[in-house]
Amino acid sequence: MRSLSASETETEGRKLGESLRKGDVVSLRGSLGAGKTVLAKGIAESLGITEAIVSPTFTIVQEYSGREKLYHLDLYRLSGDDEFESMGGEEFLYPDGITLIEWSEKIDDMLPDNTIFVDITISDDGSRNIDITRGRR
Ligand SMILES: Nc1ncnc2c1ncn2[C@@H]1O[C@H](COP(=O)(O)OP(=O)(O)O)[C@@H](O)[C@H]1O
Ligand SMILES: [Mg+2]
Repeated sequence: MRSLSASETETEGRKLGESLRKGDVVSLRGSLGAGKTVLAKGIAESLGITEAIVSPTFTIVQEYSGREKLYHLDLYRLSGDDEFESMGGEEFLYPDGITLIEWSEKIDDMLPDNTIFVDITISDDGSRNIDITRGRR
């Protein structure tokens, strides 16, 4: 879909969130400022989470609880698979809740086959194109 504003992207996140079930892993891909965290806010809202969603860049993972637990990871500062394993990251790939991962490219080989990929690209006019795919292409 094409999103013309942050609030449209948030709405798209809410719609996706309604379809998520325990155990789902969502990869949020797109350049810096594309709208990954905005979409994550929409997903969190749909899970009944009222806390502010901030980008967990410095903490790597933020945990919230709503109708399901929500784990929000931002791997921007992660070096790769080894660091992810040593922080015990695998538990977030097979979660007892729902996991959202920004910059999942860092651990691409470790992502489960049924990962839901959300690709956000910024067009020249500033609008966002949001593409959602269940599982690997
Ligand atoms: N259509 C849109 N969808 C999402 N964000 C948008 C859109 N248009 C403008 N923005 C702005 O772009 C920024 C996206 O920030 P953020 O979600 O933190 O990006 P990311 O997490 O991908 O780095 C916000 O400041 C938001 O207001
Ligand atoms: Mg972000």
